[in-house]
Amino acid sequence: MQEVFKAGKIQREDVFIATKLWNNNHRPERVKPAFEASLKKLQLDYVDLYLIHTPFAFQPGDEPDPRGANGHVIYDKGVTLLDSWRALEGLVDEGRCKAVGLSDVSLAQAKEIFEAGRIKPAVVHIESHPYLPQWDLLDDCGKNGIVLQAFAALGHSSEPRLLEDPVITAIAQRVNKTPAQVLLAWAIQRGTALLTTSRTPSRIKENFEVSTLPEEGYRPDCCKNIL
Ligand SMILES: NC(=O)c1ccc[n+]([C@@H]2O[C@H](COP(=O)([O-])OP(=O)(O)OC[C@H]3O[C@@H](n4cnc5c(N)ncnc54)[C@H](OP(=O)(O)O)[C@@H]3O)[C@@H](O)[C@H]2O)c1
Repeated sequence: MQEVFKAGKIQREDVFIATKLWNNNHRPERVKPAFEASLKKLQLDYVDLYLIHTPFAFQPGDEPDPRGANGHVIYDKGVTLLDSWRALEGLVDEGRCKAVGLSDVSLAQAKEIFEAGRIKPAVVHIESHPYLPQWDLLDDCGKNGIVLQAFAALGHSSEPRLLEDPVITAIAQRVNKTPAQVLLAWAIQRGTALLTTSRTPSRIKENFEVSTLPEEGYRPDCCKNIL
C-alpha cells in the first residue's frame, strides 16, 4: 500500500481500509495495544473501520488459538462484548479509527451493543447470501442507521453451492448475467454492502458489472417443484 500511495496515483483517503480485533485481545486493556500492532503491520496512521472479529473472547495472551489439554479452545468468560466495545469507542475518541463495528454477531448480540453503546456500530459484518438472508438483522440495522456488510456474498465454499444453484442459474439465464452477478445484485438491491474476493482478473471485472434485477415475481421452470 505504501508503494502505491508513494507513487501518487491513489491517495490513502481514496481507499477504505478495515481490520479486526482478534479474539485473544478482547480484554479492554489489550484492545489499544492490539490496534496499534495492526496499524504498525499495515504501516498506516489510521484505519477507516475497526471490527470486533467475533462476539466471544479467547483466553487473553499471545497465543491466538489457545487450546486446553483436551484440544478444546479456551474461552475467556471474564470479559463481555460490551467491555470490548467500550474500549473500541475510546479508539474512535482518539481519532485512530474512523468507525467501529461488529462481526459474526447474532441479532441479540448486535441489539445489546446498539442499545448500550455510546457510539453505535457503523457496520455489522456477517455472512449473508440467499441461503442466509438474515432479514431480522438487516431490518434492525436499517432502523439503527447501521450498514449490514455481507461476507460470503457468493456463498464462500459452503454447500449448497450458490453459483451452481438451479434458482440462481435460472435467474442468471433469464437476465443474461452470470450467477455471481445475480448474487451480487441481490445483495445490493436489498440494501447491504457486500464483500467478495477474486484472484481472477476476468471475475474481478465481471463482479463490477452488475445491474438491477427485475422486481416482478418469477418461477423458473426448473424450480416449479421447490418454490
Ligand atoms: N468475519 C468472518 O468470519 C469472515 C469469514 C469469511 C470471509 N470474510 C470476509 O469476506 C471476504 C470475502 O470472502 P469469501 O470467500 O467469503 O467470498 P465469496 O464471495 O463467498 O467467495 C469468493 C470465492 O469466489 C470466487 N469468485 C469470485 N468471483 C467469482 C465469479 N464472478 N464467478 C465465480 N467465482 C467467483 C473466488 O475465486 P477466485 O479467487 O479463484 O476467482 C473466491 O474463491 C473475505 O476477504 C473476508 O474479508 C469474513
